[in-house]
Amino acid sequence: MSINYQDRIPNNVDLGSNRTLQRALEHWQPEFLNWWQELGPKDFQVADVYLRTATSVDAKGWATYGFVRMPEYRWGIFLADRDPERKIGFGDNFGKEVWQQIPGEHRSTLRRLIVTQGDTEPASVEQQRMLGHTAPSLYDLRNLFQVNVEEGRHLWAMVYLLHAYFGRDGREEAEELLERHSGDADKPRILGTFNEPIRDWLSFFMFTMFTDRDGKFQLKSLAESSFDPLARTCSFMLTEEAHHMFVGDTGISRVVKRTLEVMKELSTDDPEAIRNAGAIDLPTVQRYLNFWFSSSLDLFGSESSSNAASYFANGLKGRPDEARYEDHIALDTFYTIDVPNGNGSTKSEQIPMRNAMNDVTRGSYVKDCEMGVTRWNRLIEKAGHSFRLALPSTRFRRNIGTWAGVPTDPAGKPIPQTEFNAKIAGWLPSEGDQAYILSLMHGVYEPGKMAAWVAPPDRGINSNPVEYEYVRFQ
Ligand SMILES: [Fe+2]
Ligand SMILES: [Fe+2]
Repeated sequence: MSINYQDRIPNNVDLGSNRTLQRALEHWQPEFLNWWQELGPKDFQVADVYLRTATSVDAKGWATYGFVRMPEYRWGIFLADRDPERKIGFGDNFGKEVWQQIPGEHRSTLRRLIVTQGDTEPASVEQQRMLGHTAPSLYDLRNLFQVNVEEGRHLWAMVYLLHAYFGRDGREEAEELLERHSGDADKPRILGTFNEPIRDWLSFFMFTMFTDRDGKFQLKSLAESSFDPLARTCSFMLTEEAHHMFVGDTGISRVVKRTLEVMKELSTDDPEAIRNAGAIDLPTVQRYLNFWFSSSLDLFGSESSSNAASYFANGLKGRPDEARYEDHIALDTFYTIDVPNGNGSTKSEQIPMRNAMNDVTRGSYVKDCEMGVTRWNRLIEKAGHSFRLALPSTRFRRNIGTWAGVPTDPAGKPIPQTEFNAKIAGWLPSEGDQAYILSLMHGVYEPGKMAAWVAPPDRGINSNPVEYEYVRFQ
């Protein structure tokens, strides 16, 4: 179904045919806009930003580009087209009809899953709201705002489901999505990583690389759901999400590239010398990576989880790309996890496959992250340096699951608590690192100009040159 832009709320769900739902969402709309003005990007609300907007949900041409002031962005409700043949793809009801309405017994669980996903979307906008002041270029400023408006739209996607399928409870949850705030002492966002402040662009690139990528895998799991409207909502969100990870992946590439240029000019790998030249030494990049990757790992939940098993059994949340697996029932199979044995080493434990779904998803996520790291390392290798960036072990610095609170080094080797306490500061961004990175953060707003710590991108947006004026100030 094509997108209707005549309605106050653009949509492809024939919103006009359900007056009650339309009115309820039109009531939520000004509250969303108030939230955007208060907690969305600070100080750039009247700038004209070169943004893409969805025009249709098929792969061919869903985006149109043009200058928009962010508060006038057409946030709306877009679901991927319905496949009338679609069947339940996993769990106890494998092969049966997917649900167009929610079975009563799954109502509260699905509501929780949708609220948890929905909560992350505005959270990241709040985390990133000050970054416009220090964008390394207009190209980057535009990308930040593109990510921000799309996270706003992802909030709309979840709020639509809450309003359309969960009655009064859903409407209340939708209100609360605007009442919790990232880092708020009284009403924080639900998940830990989404309460971490993002004060600098290195953290922003790490966040879009590693934390948005968690979002990708959560959405992929929910895109398998037997609740068809949720599956279709998440399928379309994934097409928007891809750009966010592009921003992170290429952002870190560009940081590395610039550092390598400086290392070549000065023929040194001395971090002090590299910093004196205004670039970011690679060990610092590694420490930021350690922080954001390990923090994002917790978002997948415990290695062994009875909740995950029941989500799978009931067909609520599957594995990313479920069709790639041979066995969609996963009832009599087992999965091996490593657990600490309490005396400084590890032992293997077999758990039922269904209980391991969080770790299966985390495993796919880690592989996806590795591809980025391999690309960055290729740049370093080509420049003739032996330094390599690496993902820390999934056991490192965990707060949730089997390894929560267990001291290990970044390679995952259990170590005494005293050794961990002595070394952790060297594995994560120190106060000195953070102060240095913050000292690099200055807004660069001249078309084509780039901050000294990051290389220009290979190409601009939508076939425009890199030096295009992507944001026009009033
Ligand atoms: Fe999102
Ligand atoms: Fe995102």
